[in-house]
Amino acid sequence: MSGINKKAKKRDIAIIGTGYVGLITGVCFASLGHNIICVDKDKNKIALLNNGQIPIYEPGLDKILKKHRKNILFTTDSKKAIEESGIIFIAVNTPTGKRGEIDMKYFKAAIREIATQIEEYKIIVNKSTVPVGTGEWVQKEIKKYYQGNFSVVSNPEFLREGSALKDFLKPDRIIIGAEDNKSKKIMLEIYSKIEAPLLVVDIKSAELIKYAANAFLATKISFINEIANLCEKINGDVVKVAEGIGLDKRIGPKFLNAGIGYGGSCFPKDVRGLDSIGKEYKYNFNIIKAVMLVNQKQQERFVRKIKKILNKIKGNRIGVWGLSFKPNTDDVRKSPAIAIIKELQKNINYKIQAYDPIAIENAKKEIPFKNIKYSKNAYEAAKNADILILITDWSEFSKINMQRVKKSMRQYYILDGRNQLNPENIKKLGFYYEGIGRK
Ligand code: NAD
Ligand code: UGA
Repeated sequence: MSGINKKAKKRDIAIIGTGYVGLITGVCFASLGHNIICVDKDKNKIALLNNGQIPIYEPGLDKILKKHRKNILFTTDSKKAIEESGIIFIAVNTPTGKRGEIDMKYFKAAIREIATQIEEYKIIVNKSTVPVGTGEWVQKEIKKYYQGNFSVVSNPEFLREGSALKDFLKPDRIIIGAEDNKSKKIMLEIYSKIEAPLLVVDIKSAELIKYAANAFLATKISFINEIANLCEKINGDVVKVAEGIGLDKRIGPKFLNAGIGYGGSCFPKDVRGLDSIGKEYKYNFNIIKAVMLVNQKQQERFVRKIKKILNKIKGNRIGVWGLSFKPNTDDVRKSPAIAIIKELQKNINYKIQAYDPIAIENAKKEIPFKNIKYSKNAYEAAKNADILILITDWSEFSKINMQRVKKSMRQYYILDGRNQLNPENIKKLGFYYEGIGRK
């Protein structure tokens, strides 16, 4: 693979941006036998990695990195990476801008670095989530600085945090947006060891597939959340309703867990991003707007429930289980837990005691230090509390001795924002239990 041209002999693949996606991509490609160079402008990140440490929490990543370390070079030197490799992946962050638009400043900077340093044929593969039309822009931008031959490819990533390695190595599909035979052939080659349906499409379709996939999953979540809200009015059970509709193969059972709405660094950003792509092309996305509104209201509804109970029972001490945006990650970006806690903190009489298996340090950076303390374990967070709220469905919460929890609480109220606990068992112990859309 490294013999793609004269100078790029040393490495098969360079990856610009060694964050969540860049690091997983680099390590997984290394495990498939490719020779990788991972670049990041963040010196601390690269120093950590060169020191054998991993800047993110992702189950299994330490083991696979250790095993294939010899196939990866971590550096801040983008010139070296561009020069030594034939295929350059871009995996930099594309956050939401001030007006809801997709902020492309990091992506554009990365392209400029390539454009000004490229000296011979390269395949530039975009893995960041970027607006439709970006591939075309990349073509034009590079041509301003370099008149030789090169290919642009879109290869969106669908991994989830917490199961990223499995998602990368055993994906549901691989999407390649490529428009010339040379790049198509080489892309198929680098993924040849992964068994998955491989769809080769034009670049714009590949770019849109990424947004459409995330927005569709978010739509499923907002849909089931609205059904849950109706269940609360008719005394139905959304878990049963989800099971009942999910058995229809055309609908499927996944992403139908009602709760307090979706969070994370991706769904909120990409759903908003699709709306802004629509705006750019003068298309009004009615569904997408509704998905965002329902998601926001779902959190507000949960906070209202907490306040209503505390008001009724004259309580003020709130135990919180879970801070990350979902289990198995320490990522708290756009975590519903952070938004809910910040809202509760507005009442200075509330005393919040929060626990998360691994996200506490990241949460501390986001949550103002007032009327909150962090607990060493789930039992400590529940101690003397009037109400316990479960926000993130970490599996350890299913194994907690709820009798012990009850003994230590001041009043016995549980609001389960993820429908994780078994209502029958919990009620038998003498708790007041409310889930989302459950009887
Ligand atoms: P991240 O913030 O974890 O990492 C991005 C990295 O890029 C950072 O380390 C940053 O320092 C580095 N960077 C920025 N500009 C650079 C430059 N010019 N040169 C070198 N390094 C540079 O972001 P992420 O979560 O890995 O997401 C990256 C992209 O992938 C985004 O577009 C995101 O939407 C998409 N994506 C993310 C996930 C996910 O689960 N996190 C999944 C699929 C797709
Ligand atoms: C999501 C997508 O699932 C990935 O395919 C995609 O690559 C990624 O975004 C991205 O583009 O970056 P991720 O954000 O890691 O992955 O997490 P998910 O497992 O999708 O969960 C997102 C949010 O939805 C979480 O807050 C989760 O709690 C919530 N959720 C998920 C529900 O409320 N109900 C469900 O049924 C499923």
